[in-house]
Amino acid sequence: MTVLQRFSLEGKVAIVTGASSGLGVAFAKALAEAGADVVLGARRADRLDGTRKMVEELDRRALAVTTDVARQPDCQNLVDTAMAEFGRVDVLVNNAGIGTAVPATRETVEEFTQVIDVNLNGCYWMAQACGRVMQPGSSIVNISSILGLTTANLPQAAYAASKAGLIGLTRDLAQQWGGRKGIRVNALAPGFFESEMTDQYKPGYLDSMMARVPLGRKGDPEELAAALVFLAGDAGGYVTGQTIAVDGGITIT
Ligand SMILES: NC(=O)c1ccc[n+]([C@@H]2O[C@H](COP(=O)([O-])OP(=O)(O)OC[C@H]3O[C@@H](n4cnc5c(N)ncnc54)[C@H](OP(=O)(O)O)[C@@H]3O)[C@@H](O)[C@H]2O)c1
Repeated sequence: MTVLQRFSLEGKVAIVTGASSGLGVAFAKALAEAGADVVLGARRADRLDGTRKMVEELDRRALAVTTDVARQPDCQNLVDTAMAEFGRVDVLVNNAGIGTAVPATRETVEEFTQVIDVNLNGCYWMAQACGRVMQPGSSIVNISSILGLTTANLPQAAYAASKAGLIGLTRDLAQQWGGRKGIRVNALAPGFFESEMTDQYKPGYLDSMMARVPLGRKGDPEELAAALVFLAGDAGGYVTGQTIAVDGGITIT
C-alpha cells in the first residue's frame, strides 16, 4: 500500500451529522472525494438535499435522512437507514452542533440544556448506535472545539462544557472500543472557520481573535476536512483517543 492509498476511503460508508451547512458540507465533500459513500443527517431537509446532490455529482452514493441528534430515536433511525441502504457504517463524523454565548448568571435551564443535548448527548446517541454495528477498522471522529481546551473572550459555559465533555467521551469510547471492537475514536478541535455559526458573532469579533492565532488567519474548511480524512481511514490507523487541534496554533498561546 502506498502512502496515498492509506488515505483512500474507497468502499467505505460514512455518516456525517450536521451536513446541511458549514463544516459538515465540507466534510461530506472531502469524504466523497476520498472515495466514501456518505449518509447525511440534519434537521433542514432542503439543505440536506443540496449536500446529497453535491456528493452524487462526485459519483458517490448519498442518502439524506432528516435527523434531530438531540432525539435518540432519530440517531438510531439514521444508523438503521444507513445499514438498510448501504449495509455497513465505517466512519461516523459527529459534527452537528449549536453555539451560544450567554452570561452565566442569566443563562436559563433550557438554554444550557439544549446545548448539552445537541453537542454532547447527540454525539453519544450517534456513537452508541454506530458502535453496535461498526466492524473492526471503523473510525469515529467527534467535532469538538478549541473551546473544549481554552477560552475565547465570550461567555460560553454551555458550549465549552459540551465541547470539553466531548473530549472526555472521545477518550472513554476509545478505551472501551479500541481493543475489543477495533473501533478508533478521536476528536478534532477546530479553531476559527467561517460558517453560519460564526456569522452569529458580533461584527469584528473574529478579526479581533486573529491577534491570538500564530498563523494570523482563519482556517479554510478544506484544511480541517483533510485532518478528518486522515483520522477516518487507514492513514490514522494507529491513532485513537486523541484530540487534534486544527486551529492555526491558537491553543499554544
Ligand atoms: N466554525 C467554527 O469556527 C467552529 C469551530 C469549532 C468547532 N466548530 C464545530 O463544528 C461543527 C459544525 O459547525 P459549523 O461551524 O459548520 O456551523 P453551522 O454551519 O451552524 O452548522 C451546524 C450544523 O449542525 C446542524 N445541527 C444543529 N443542531 C442540530 C440538531 N439538533 N440535530 C441535527 N443537526 C443539527 C445544523 O443543521 P440543521 O440546522 O439543519 O439541523 C448544521 O448542519 C459544530 O459542532 C461546531 O461546534 C465550529
